[in-house]
Amino acid sequence: MYGNLIGYQQHENKVIVQFEKSEAVIETITPAIIRFFVSVAGLDRKSKAIENLNCAPGSLTTHHADGVLTICTEKLVVTIKDEFYVTISDRAGHVLSEDYQGEGKPFIRKGSGEGLAIAAEEGHKLEAERNKLLFKIEKKLDQNTFFYGLGDKTGHLNKKGYHYKMWNTDNPSPHVESFDALYKSIPFLITLKEKQAFGYFLDNTFESIVDLGKENSDYYSFGAVGGDIDYYFIYGPSVKSVINRYTDLTGTTPLPQLWTLGYQQCRWSYTPENRLREIADNFRKKDIPCDALYLDIDYMDGYRVFTWDHKKFPDPKRTLELLKKQGFKVVTIIDPGVKKDKGYSVYDQGIANDYFATDKDLVPYVNKVWPGDALYPDFSNEKVRNWWAGNQKIMTDTGVAGIWNDMNEPASFNGPLPDDVLFNNDGVQADHREVHNVYGHYMSKATYEGIKQATGKRPFVITRACYAGTQKYATVWTGDNQSLWEHLRMSLPMLMNLGLSGIAFCGTDVGGFGFDCTAELLSRWVQVGAFTPLFRNHSSIYTRDQEPWAFDDQTEAINRKYIKLRYQLLPYLYDLLHDGESSGLPVIRPLFLHYQDDVRTYEINDEFLCGDSILVAPVVEQGARTRLVYLPEGNEWIDFWTKEVFAGGQYIVREAPLDLCPIYIKGGGIVPLYPVQNYVGEQEIKQLTLDVYLTESVKNGSYIHYQDDGESFNYQNGGYNLYELSIIYNDPSDDLTLSIKMKHNGYRKAYESFKIILNHTIASEVILDGEKIPYEVNGESTYLSVDHLGTISIKL
Ligand code: GLC
Repeated sequence: MYGNLIGYQQHENKVIVQFEKSEAVIETITPAIIRFFVSVAGLDRKSKAIENLNCAPGSLTTHHADGVLTICTEKLVVTIKDEFYVTISDRAGHVLSEDYQGEGKPFIRKGSGEGLAIAAEEGHKLEAERNKLLFKIEKKLDQNTFFYGLGDKTGHLNKKGYHYKMWNTDNPSPHVESFDALYKSIPFLITLKEKQAFGYFLDNTFESIVDLGKENSDYYSFGAVGGDIDYYFIYGPSVKSVINRYTDLTGTTPLPQLWTLGYQQCRWSYTPENRLREIADNFRKKDIPCDALYLDIDYMDGYRVFTWDHKKFPDPKRTLELLKKQGFKVVTIIDPGVKKDKGYSVYDQGIANDYFATDKDLVPYVNKVWPGDALYPDFSNEKVRNWWAGNQKIMTDTGVAGIWNDMNEPASFNGPLPDDVLFNNDGVQADHREVHNVYGHYMSKATYEGIKQATGKRPFVITRACYAGTQKYATVWTGDNQSLWEHLRMSLPMLMNLGLSGIAFCGTDVGGFGFDCTAELLSRWVQVGAFTPLFRNHSSIYTRDQEPWAFDDQTEAINRKYIKLRYQLLPYLYDLLHDGESSGLPVIRPLFLHYQDDVRTYEINDEFLCGDSILVAPVVEQGARTRLVYLPEGNEWIDFWTKEVFAGGQYIVREAPLDLCPIYIKGGGIVPLYPVQNYVGEQEIKQLTLDVYLTESVKNGSYIHYQDDGESFNYQNGGYNLYELSIIYNDPSDDLTLSIKMKHNGYRKAYESFKIILNHTIASEVILDGEKIPYEVNGESTYLSVDHLGTISIKL
């Protein structure tokens, strides 16, 4: 395809390499991020994922000798040979990634033609043949390689041995390991080999594939059916750095409003108004905190987006005001499909302004979704995005607090959209093959910008479909799961891989969307939900009721217990999202993110870290009342419930009765806590609790806590407080110095006091500002409160 390497030119950070038959561009974005580009389709599109590329290539050298072109950055050495054969090494000469030079050798699928026909008659399907790829990049695969990322793919945490497709897909059958695609396309892969990590990001919106040694165990590959070769090598060597660098390219999740971290209740059928209000009243009556209620498609007038069914909601604004008084925010669904209906203003405006995608003859394209015949707004056109953004005000003026974008793969009931449906693509016409995977991305962007303009607050948008970079605009949920134990289990690797793919704010439908939930399944699912950033219980119309009280007293009590725990943990989760806005790190993390040297963590599917201090080992098996827990090496771990201390690097067996989710806090970890509230903002939080997990051997710890108004963008102009907490053990004097300092003071409602819980610490005297202050010892813990910042000395 390329032929021999015949020369090159360097223009600043770009090296253009000439081969006999083609040329390639190698661009150093930073010393650790290299872009590879070949104009195979001649499109040379502006990236949809990367909006503000920060190029800081550092110093770069090139050298061409003996047919080998060498490009050195401060961190990497890239060598290029004939046929565009690429090798990437670190500066110490350790090869990280190498193109595969051998023959492509697909796995053999033995069987005779006759057998196939018989099998097909019984309904067995052979896996669909691969679509013809325009290009495929093959990299050598070493056996000790682990793969992660790729968004919301089904299956396990490590993706090695599997083949996936990037084509946003709404498949209502129960999601299983054999699905190669779901709603989201994030062609970003993290590779972990010999404790070293790097990533590949294929920035191509066409249907693409990632094969991780399924086709052949000698190589892994990625390719696409159209578009150009445009991919990035992203160096680590820590997984954290890979994510950090990937989100430098594609953006991080912006800090959300605090209430969006509260508990959210959804169901397809919270209409009419009385039903919605009954749900709201029940939460308050039953003393179960809740911040958000959702309205699904049945609140609309005939499924016309941006309308209300006034028979069900005679005065939606008043209804939402009443709910607001009880502390509830209402989130409404808005799908892309606009009902074909003359006289309906959204349709009329769309037609009048050519805002809809068209067929190849430029006639607005019609398919079917909930409202029947419907048209697809062309979100790839900035004008349409602005129009759609403006429409958000219709909802926010009624008091709607967030928008739920669904069906934006885009889904269609009358067969898939044909390839030749046309889109404006910001003035460079493109067809459905190119726009499909970014349709939901652009819809989320329009929704985000519209809510921001209309309210001035941090927008809450939740989307089902997305592309790389959608994290800048929306939180995601994993679509239509079912009330199956298998789906509870699978949600953990799915959420961990979404997090590794830049999506810090994500969740699954707690309890499961389709099928009927059971009391036990909901009890275990809420224990996971309490630690996932988006904590939303959702179920389908006609399935068994699934609210926290829908089963029995025990299930209700378990829901209450974990939802209340979630409200205590709000400042911790908010800190994680605040950190994530700069680091790109997710809330839900696989253990290896913090324990990369401990290879036993590489394939743990059923445990996760919530931030760096909390390890959650939920029970995901029906009937199980004990479970094996792996505690990673390098820290001690304290059982959250019993305060028992365990050494890391071991498997333990934990009793886990139905109301107990095994939770462990890292030795030295500090967890900030709020009092339980019915909803965010019910109380002004004047006292912050600091739950400090010391042990016999770990008596030092530190933590940075962030505080702001929880809703506005003032924090971007300094309107926040940062508290720095540290605990230091002084050996000769056998005392602890605990200091609470204000590192940044820009938000006027600073805490008035701090309550400190020192686990595994028995104080004999506590001194603040030279004076003894009261404290309490209970069991092995010391409790004290201070009413100002400062340094506290604790004699042991
Ligand atoms: C889709 C969504 C689901 C929603 C339903 C009705 O199936 O994934 O969450 O409830 O549509 O709008």
